[in-house]
Amino acid sequence: MKNINIAIDGPAGAGKSTIAKMVSKKLGYIYVDTGALYRTIALFITENNIPDEEIETALEKADVSLRFIDGAQRVFLGDRDVSDLIRTPEISMAASRTSAIPAVRKYLFGTQQKIAAENNVIMDGRDIGTVVLPNADVKIFLTASAEERANRRFKELSEKPNCPCYEEILSDIIERDRQDMTREVSPLKQAEDAVLVDTTELDLEQSAEAIVKIITEKTGGGK
Ligand code: DC
Repeated sequence: MKNINIAIDGPAGAGKSTIAKMVSKKLGYIYVDTGALYRTIALFITENNIPDEEIETALEKADVSLRFIDGAQRVFLGDRDVSDLIRTPEISMAASRTSAIPAVRKYLFGTQQKIAAENNVIMDGRDIGTVVLPNADVKIFLTASAEERANRRFKELSEKPNCPCYEEILSDIIERDRQDMTREVSPLKQAEDAVLVDTTELDLEQSAEAIVKIITEKTGGGK
């Protein structure tokens, strides 16, 4: 039987990964965070100081893989688990820039399609419903206002030392939105057949429930 594929796209900070993880637990699907793949490539490019014109060739040697440990996704560069290392603001910005390079998108395209062909997945990213899984069973476009996204991020970071101020976080979010939406290849946009879910006024549990309801209605009920 064909596996069920759910695509969740949307801008940075809309809560995609937290919400998609909750939904995947409720439905028993594998959750795939494709942003982690782009971040890992950005780490590879940054650590090795690879100039743009050499990226395509260098990627042949980049051994990026996803592993699922106790149901949770971990991302590896060779034998190194880099899942935590890729979560810095520098790598966020670098990933936003390097993900616009066609060779990078081409490199990750097959990896993402293969996982979706072999599993029931909830896959989140920017171009899952439009490019990677155009035939996904359900497509969700998850968003929230830039101010609300900055607010959530600020609350998350405010307990850490050297936390950036709200204005800095907001301007980073606006800049990442701009880069992700205006790039030539696979820009972030809502697929024509995607359902829009705006979480500005919703908490995590309400957002997850709204999505489970959409999926259940469209697939006739989970697995
Ligand atoms: O979801 P995230 O913030 O971890 O993603 C990091 C960057 O990767 C983001 O700025 C855009 C890019 N990305 C992409 O271009 N396509 C995807 N499917 C997922 C992420």
